[in-house]
Amino acid sequence: MIQNIFAEALLAAIPDLPEDQIRAGIEIPKEKTMGDFAFPCFRLAKAFRKAPAMIAPEIAEKLKDNPLFEKVEAVGPYVNVFIDKEHWAQSVIRDFMEADQYGSGTEGIREDGTRKNIVLDYSSINVAKPFHIGHLRTTVIGNSIKKLHEFLGYNTISVNHLGDWGTQFGKMAVAYQKWGDPETVDARGVRGLMDLYVRFHEEAKKDPSLDDEARAAFTRMENNDEEILSLWQRFVDISLKEVSRVYDLLDVQFDSYNGESFYRDKMDAPIALLREKGLLKESEGAQVVDLSEFNMPPCLVLKSDGSSIYATRDIAAAIYRKNTYDFAKCLYVTATEQILHFSQVFKVIELMGYDWYADLVHIPYGYVSLEEGKLSTREGNVIFLEDLLNEAIAKTRDIMNEKNPDLENLEEVAQQVGVGAVVFHDLFNNRIKDVTFSWDNVLNFDGETGPYVQYTFARCSSVLRKAGKLEKKVPDASKLTDEYAQEIIKLIEDFPNRVREAAKKYEPYIITRYTVAVATAYNKFYHENSILNAEDAETRFARLYLTKMVAYILKTGLSLIGVKAPERM
Ligand code: ARG
Repeated sequence: MIQNIFAEALLAAIPDLPEDQIRAGIEIPKEKTMGDFAFPCFRLAKAFRKAPAMIAPEIAEKLKDNPLFEKVEAVGPYVNVFIDKEHWAQSVIRDFMEADQYGSGTEGIREDGTRKNIVLDYSSINVAKPFHIGHLRTTVIGNSIKKLHEFLGYNTISVNHLGDWGTQFGKMAVAYQKWGDPETVDARGVRGLMDLYVRFHEEAKKDPSLDDEARAAFTRMENNDEEILSLWQRFVDISLKEVSRVYDLLDVQFDSYNGESFYRDKMDAPIALLREKGLLKESEGAQVVDLSEFNMPPCLVLKSDGSSIYATRDIAAAIYRKNTYDFAKCLYVTATEQILHFSQVFKVIELMGYDWYADLVHIPYGYVSLEEGKLSTREGNVIFLEDLLNEAIAKTRDIMNEKNPDLENLEEVAQQVGVGAVVFHDLFNNRIKDVTFSWDNVLNFDGETGPYVQYTFARCSSVLRKAGKLEKKVPDASKLTDEYAQEIIKLIEDFPNRVREAAKKYEPYIITRYTVAVATAYNKFYHENSILNAEDAETRFARLYLTKMVAYILKTGLSLIGVKAPERM
């Protein structure tokens, strides 16, 4: 990292100041004209017994002759430096060439070579409910966080914690037995199951005994009644078949589909432990863990009829995952409405005496709405994700047919661009922020969109194709000192940092926006400089090499957010 040069020079100039203070003190000036880095001298006033504005010139004087600095200036209390441009380019090129996969890391690998496990619970769809665009967020955020961690050397285990258990399945079973027509349900899939669910609620209004039947049906399920379980299995299969089409489009995979039903026989031990530790209290017939001391409502563990609930299964799941995967972290990606749920569950795990409670992390995200209004499962205006993705592909196909009708694999590219556009848009903002979905923003080829970044990658690929095979040699960094090349150099240097920041904060948008910045910088460079027809062979090679680095960064960056990078489009 080039910032080290400045830190080391400062360390030599002010040996009395501890290294960490020097490093922490370095700033990047807001105005580029002020310098590449700045060091404020306020903290030195005491030791030097001088005003900061008097210290700055003294330090600047000591740095002045360092050949790695183009210019050193004292401005008020600040020491500002301009790094030698050639040196900067050279250092980035060297790092890029030396790395196996520039930007990747070994944070997830232990000294003995084994990898730390990260369990990621995301997507986690609900059986017999629509996979709507709200679920898109958990799916793409989780997928990106997984890729970021893999890039840093972790071993990831992605879990689709299916919502496949609970009293609603008793209702479904009753509805299916009474009014279900296998052929209609097969043909309509999840929509067919939803119809039955709606019908159940309508009929139950007239005939409340249906609710008792449903409860009885769920009890039979809990007691392993084969007949009713085989019905339930159908609902699960129908849902999984449908979502797997969406997962294929998104190119998202899971290592485990152990959902809520998986834990139906794994709750006795945790409940016994809760009891043993005196954590369970009776409250209106139900068993709860009192969390008032922690300013939270009680965590319901067993309902008055003795049945378990969502939280009980999450407690069992966390323990099972720890035992099975010995995770370094277990991450849960869900909407903000589950913040309280996870705070309660994590607190209960802590109270049970498990010291790894601190490795459980909830990663919440805001809502997606369509331009017209909020999405809802209960009302009729649910947008199925599969339809939305197919529409994105169709719209992209139309655009491509206009822009580049001769493209060989147009269909494949339309899919990569259409789906990529939706994913990119979803990951463009800080995850807590609510997202409004609008086609204009998603598919604009010139805006801050997926197609724009993909298009820039295709542009790089085209330049490199035309150039033919690049020689294996180190480019001449003195040819990359113009302002456009420098902008790119600095961004490339920052890639490893951005990857780490995105992983640490669980924020894919850091990568999404970064790819836009790189694409924009490259497009400027491309318009300002001739690459293939550069003035001399060394310049041409250096610019081609820069193009090669940008192509790598864009492709890798896009893959970290789960977006494909076609070479032609
Ligand atoms: N199925 C739930 C939903 O759609 C999300 C499950 C999240 N994971 C968990 N372990 N609770 O809201």
